[in-house]
Amino acid sequence: MMDQSLDHSAFADTAEQGLEASNMVGPTDSEEATAVAMQNTLLTPRFYTTNFDELDAIDVGPIREEWDALINEMKADPNKGHFKKNEDWDHIDWDQMEPKLRAEFKDFLISSCTAEFSGCVLYKEMKRRGRNEDITTLFQLMARDEARHAGFINDALREAGISVNLGFLTQAKKYTYFRPKFIYYATYLSEKIGYARYITIFRHLQENPEKRFHPIFKWFEEWCNDEFRHGEAFALLMKTDPKLTSGLNRYWIKFFLTAVFATMWVRDHQRPAFHEALGVDPEWYGQEVFRKTTAISLQIFPLALDLDHPRWLPALRRLDQANRHIAEAKKGKGLSAKIKHLSASMAAGWAFLQLLTIPAIKNDVPEETRLEPAY
Ligand SMILES: [Fe+2]
Ligand SMILES: [Fe+2]
Repeated sequence: MMDQSLDHSAFADTAEQGLEASNMVGPTDSEEATAVAMQNTLLTPRFYTTNFDELDAIDVGPIREEWDALINEMKADPNKGHFKKNEDWDHIDWDQMEPKLRAEFKDFLISSCTAEFSGCVLYKEMKRRGRNEDITTLFQLMARDEARHAGFINDALREAGISVNLGFLTQAKKYTYFRPKFIYYATYLSEKIGYARYITIFRHLQENPEKRFHPIFKWFEEWCNDEFRHGEAFALLMKTDPKLTSGLNRYWIKFFLTAVFATMWVRDHQRPAFHEALGVDPEWYGQEVFRKTTAISLQIFPLALDLDHPRWLPALRRLDQANRHIAEAKKGKGLSAKIKHLSASMAAGWAFLQLLTIPAIKNDVPEETRLEPAY
């Protein structure tokens, strides 16, 4: 516990400090937003728990040099104080926003906030339970960053009159157990795809500033550099044990790549007004983000998905279509709705299988793992 609480999470040195900062315990609390954040579906951000003892037992000795360089970069804390409104924060009149865009953008902010907070909770817990100083240092630094990110999104949401009750979420949201290796694959990918998503939007808006309908996008560059570093950490953790990226685990890696990409595709296609306002075609955006994430993941993964395979895009489109049919069927009642739901679910499963069975491209992993954010 801190004896003195901070004014703003942007200056937090630890996650605990960030979560107790004044901007995190706001007066507004909105049940609607918290209800959205509480949802547990295949498409919504989840909370994770894992075998913390196994994680704590990792020996970073074999990769000491790369490890220390990364930790020192994170300790230097280039983004301290960054995630706070300043004179670049333009005023937004939420009431004037086109209703469809407003709804989709709120949904985007709430699910982003939940995802940031989910990382914060997992990393903070690892730090709390661990005894291994290398591991606890890393996780405390990552939890610090995620608390700042979540706090900043909450600031943006508050302007729209809503806030996600993070304390309540920690207590009430269901936690999904993943064994450590699945945490590595899933979290590595979510950090790197997060980087790719943010930097792609940021570069696009640099070229098309008139499409920047909200100031938060101005913060995406430094933001995604944090996520990039988090991804680097998981790449190094995987590097400590070559078994994690060889043998049968290659199939798990392929599964996670496919699942993460497919989820992003379907989720983004649910926000047409949001992408239209940004002037971004969701298909272009999806492929662009997949390409960047794939190129980065060659640092550690022994394979890459074939994004130009003739089955790739058609199967993604079918998956999206099936997902729409599932949503429609859920609104209906009676036997016909049940049948519709079942057949759409089977179509979705079939489309996913079509993606999963595309032959992967073999990759020879380089000796040196560390990358710089280059996009
Ligand atoms: Fe983050
Ligand atoms: Fe992160």
